[in-house]
Amino acid sequence: MKIHIINGPNLNLLGKREPETYGSISFEDYFRELQFNFEKVELSYFQSNVEGELVNELHKAIENNTSGIILNAGAYTHTSIAIGDAVAAIDIPVVEVHISNVMDREEFRHVSYISKHAAGVISGFGLKGYELAVESFMQ
Ligand code: DQA
Repeated sequence: MKIHIINGPNLNLLGKREPETYGSISFEDYFRELQFNFEKVELSYFQSNVEGELVNELHKAIENNTSGIILNAGAYTHTSIAIGDAVAAIDIPVVEVHISNVMDREEFRHVSYISKHAAGVISGFGLKGYELAVESFMQ
């Protein structure tokens, strides 16, 4: 099973960025743990701060025969019709993940252009959310 993780803007700073909200581990370190814990799953990872690159990466998953996508679009979650449309356009299940509990934060974070097209949403469990998302594809 091929699962691709796509992280959006500012998530390259995980570990350094607002650690009280996003934790103190870098995504690279967490990703190594994830690969170790799910050795039978072919996990890959992409991060970009650029909206269009995230759209391109969602399209690319079609050619790569990806079984599932875990998407944390960061702040673009709350603004990007283009990313929402890309999720709707591809015939691959997408699980939307947020490290923080977006519903317990500012009101602008309560809106998602992705959720409607996602297979499910995981929010508020820290980095463990990615693990839960991988498991959701294994059901
Ligand atoms: C986030 C929540 C977003 O509101 C925020 O803009 C992020 C990270 C999360 O993982 O909790 O960049 O997606």
